[in-house]
Amino acid sequence: MTTTLFTDINSLVTNDVSFEKGLLGEINHAAFIEEAGQIVWVGSGATAPSADRQVSLEGKSVIPGFVDSHAHLVFAGDRALEFEARMSGSSYSAGGIMTTVKATREATDEELDQNIATRAVEMYRGGITTFETKSGYGLDVENELRSLRLAVQHTEDVTFLGAHVVPDEFKGRADAYVDLVKGEMLEACAPYARWIDVFCDEGAFDYDQSKAILQAGIAAGLLPRIHANQLSQGRGVELAIELGCASADHCTHLSAKDIELLAGSNTVATLLPGAEFSTRSDYPDARRLIDAGVTVALATDCNPGSSYTSSMAFCIAVAVREMHFTPEQALWSATLGGAKALQLEDVGSIAIGKSADFVVLDAPSFRHIPYRPGVDLVEETFISGTSIYRSNK
Ligand code: NIG
Ligand code: FE
Repeated sequence: MTTTLFTDINSLVTNDVSFEKGLLGEINHAAFIEEAGQIVWVGSGATAPSADRQVSLEGKSVIPGFVDSHAHLVFAGDRALEFEARMSGSSYSAGGIMTTVKATREATDEELDQNIATRAVEMYRGGITTFETKSGYGLDVENELRSLRLAVQHTEDVTFLGAHVVPDEFKGRADAYVDLVKGEMLEACAPYARWIDVFCDEGAFDYDQSKAILQAGIAAGLLPRIHANQLSQGRGVELAIELGCASADHCTHLSAKDIELLAGSNTVATLLPGAEFSTRSDYPDARRLIDAGVTVALATDCNPGSSYTSSMAFCIAVAVREMHFTPEQALWSATLGGAKALQLEDVGSIAIGKSADFVVLDAPSFRHIPYRPGVDLVEETFISGTSIYRSNK
């Protein structure tokens, strides 16, 4: 197998604490070697062994590929007018989801598939190398099933979100819809999904309904995650801990008790700055979580309603400016934090034995991501050692 030495790296984020160089294991004047899609050596450029090929990165920097652990990419249409109305004073509600459900049901398979592919390309161009995506804009057996069938063509981390909201045709009969989700819909969808998720919040599903759905999913072999405490300080986080969810996502409104529960658990708190930004909501304070010992991930929440961005760099900039992350913590949360939220062992760091998923930044270090908001710094994105995007600027 061919070995490739990437060298002349001004700043390399490894996320490997064994280097004893802080949370990010940042090495200056670094190099690493890739072989057969994996990292096989990492260290100082001065001590690098020789390899079959050598690529000089000319003083640029390298970070692990971003791991986007929360996105909703199976949809049709957009909600630009709803966004515009919000920016003129109206507020966000879960009810807007039905606008996208209607457009998604009317779309052809080809249209939906193309939409996922388009968002995926945006993500790769922005340095995301692993992404999760959910269903949740079908909300009947046929359309949830086709959403998942299409999603599995694009990522292994597919989540069944039949419980996104109670669809209009079940208005006033929420419990009948819950029965459908945990019965026929789950049976059809489980073979295509790794995860099950519920929107446990005001205007969506309450604690009891969410618990029943997640438990049914677990019994069907799916792993649980949850949309919790986005719109109100409900019992979503409590449920996440009770059921051992991999991640509780949003965490916008948290009580001191919620933070204590998260800190004492293996559940990752996934913060989604794009959602607060696009719904003009107050940001959660990441510092409170991190200081309490909670594992925190950052993700895009890319969806047409509450966060129509596929840019992790944008999310990092907002997280640093508005959520009180340090640049270092934000970078960690968008890489290894995301991997932990998806319980993936082989991505999120540049360390021996890990997948060679990395991003070359046209910048002296990762610090330029929040420091230069809105500027595209991604020069090249690699997945398993293969270049999948190269900027032509
Ligand atoms: O994560 N919170 C629930 N679901 C999405 C929003 C969906 C929508 O508005 O279309 C979210 O923010
Ligand atoms: Fe979401």
